[in-house]
Amino acid sequence: MTNSVLTTQELLHQRYGADIPATIISHPVVDLLLSHRSVRSYSNEPLPEGVLETMIAAAQSASTSSNLQTWSVVAVTDPERKDRLATLAGNQNQIRRAPLFLVWLADLARLAHAAETRQMPHEGLDYLEMWLVGVIDAALAAQNAAIAAEALGLGIVYIGAIRNHPLEVAGELQLPPMVMPVFGMCVGWPNPARPVAIKPRLPQAAVLHREVYHPEQIPPAVEHYNATMNAFYTAQQMNVEGDWVDHSSRRVAGPQSLSGRHVLREVLHRLGFQLK
Ligand SMILES: Cc1cc2nc3c(=O)[nH]c(=O)nc-3n(C[C@H](O)[C@H](O)[C@H](O)COP(=O)(O)O)c2cc1C
Repeated sequence: MTNSVLTTQELLHQRYGADIPATIISHPVVDLLLSHRSVRSYSNEPLPEGVLETMIAAAQSASTSSNLQTWSVVAVTDPERKDRLATLAGNQNQIRRAPLFLVWLADLARLAHAAETRQMPHEGLDYLEMWLVGVIDAALAAQNAAIAAEALGLGIVYIGAIRNHPLEVAGELQLPPMVMPVFGMCVGWPNPARPVAIKPRLPQAAVLHREVYHPEQIPPAVEHYNATMNAFYTAQQMNVEGDWVDHSSRRVAGPQSLSGRHVLREVLHRLGFQLK
């Protein structure tokens, strides 16, 4: 979503709170990236023709491992199918409300088929590495599509909950073996009545290590971020229990914190991925 009102410095302030990086090179594309926020409420305005194809062209322009292009996407607009997918994905209403719901797929089936047409073996596809290649390719493609959508003024939100019930999602979308839903993405015009703030991120010291990894940088940066996020929650009148460390720790506390996805390895086997 472009934000023509805010300068780069203002965008950085919203992204980092007080701990703004010293030197940032200003550029309209960088400003667009800095302006990202997940959008979960949409106006009733339909998407113009060409939005989907524009997003896919952007997605296909992403780098892809060995040019294998091991991803696909299913574009869902049928309200009943969106409703069923929403039910499978934690009953998230934004899936129902978005005019377009994209399910991004790690897709090794196309490559298996290509090899078979030449009577070539494709045992390499049975390894964890190739599943990871598919997931990485899908993520890079999806993020390019997200940026294209935001450049057009649209809002998006990723839906990881599409992995809560991957077998049922695969059935709903009629996915062949060796194709896995990685995440969904709602796309729509942002509802002007529900503006969304830019959510702060960790200070750069928490994520940027120069030459080698510096673990000592992390604790003060995380402490700083807790304070930034507490101020953000207060300003947004968000009722969040505990600080960022608290609720992030709850999110990874155990298998019960994974919304049913702790069985993913077994589910992937059933979807045809051997993960050797
Ligand atoms: C892979 C992935 C899965 C996500 N899954 C969901 C989801 O199921 N539901 C949701 O509301 N947001 C989801 N999100 C959005 C994140 O919560 C959001 O990106 C994060 O809180 C940062 O907020 P921002 O995008 O507004 O900066 C997901 C994001 C990613 C990257």
